[in-house]
Amino acid sequence: MSEIEQIDAAGRLRHLLSLEGLERRRIESIIEQAHHYLTPIGAPPARDTILEGVTVVNLFFEPSTRTRASFELAARRLSADVLSLDVNTSSRAKGESVIDTIYTLEAMQADIFVVRDASTGVPASIARHVAPHISVLNAGESDVSHPTQGLLDLMTIQLEKGDPTRLTVAIVGDIRHSRVARSAYEALMHFQVGELRLVGPAELLPDQALFAGASRETNLEKGIAGADVVMALRIQKERFAQMSEIPDPQEYFRRYGLTEERLQAARDDAIVMHPGPMNRGVEIDSATADGKRSVIRRQVTCGTAVRMAVLAQVSEHIRAGHG
Ligand code: CP
Repeated sequence: MSEIEQIDAAGRLRHLLSLEGLERRRIESIIEQAHHYLTPIGAPPARDTILEGVTVVNLFFEPSTRTRASFELAARRLSADVLSLDVNTSSRAKGESVIDTIYTLEAMQADIFVVRDASTGVPASIARHVAPHISVLNAGESDVSHPTQGLLDLMTIQLEKGDPTRLTVAIVGDIRHSRVARSAYEALMHFQVGELRLVGPAELLPDQALFAGASRETNLEKGIAGADVVMALRIQKERFAQMSEIPDPQEYFRRYGLTEERLQAARDDAIVMHPGPMNRGVEIDSATADGKRSVIRRQVTCGTAVRMAVLAQVSEHIRAGHG
């Protein structure tokens, strides 16, 4: 957990660095606000002026499609000024430090930094250095934390399956390297999930010190038996210390790939989730990813609504600082 205070002295959300340490009522309030921003596919997206005069800067030092695009759309739909810095052509390529980049953007009156980085601690380090009115939102930190993903996964589960206390959730795949699994775990534990199973090859299951209260299983069929929710994860090749440790994709699919046939072990009404990006034919086949159980695109829609809610909540802190 970060030592940075995520809540300001007046009880407003200032930073979102981790779901660990955030009170359940805060999570409930973000998800409740996200529901106001959720409109059906085909209908016009929700809009608001709550971020008028606020500047949001996206700093993605790792690749992203969903998180970056949805933060950008969320900020624009709330009427913010938005800058998504192309880090490959920024002065970081000339050796400028992250903190000097932040100070430079702060001098241009940036108010919210949305940060993704491959190293642990970068969002918290930025939060330590920014001016008091500024907010930092973690958009994916190494294998440690992806809080808005945890929120959107919880929101999707509640929408599709109801109260988590009655549910069995199986997370399948490369859990060892997954910030998505860490944040989903934190969100589900806040809501006393009925049962949480971690399923995958032994070498891709997390250290024993992590995920207290979750069970572990190396056999896929046993791991998803009777599950209400099955969440597949990508093998995160970019986080393996040695290329030789990366599982062979065909062998992995044979043992752990989600297929309609394998999902017969889960409940008849089980849903299938995946945070994306998917590697079809490795952790999931196309029939399952696009099938009737899949809520993968629903997760994406919830993601934009959740990010609008988070931006709206931190805007109250920023406005108080603007005076
Ligand atoms: N789920 C997720 O973080 O996807 P992106 O890497 O595309 O942002």
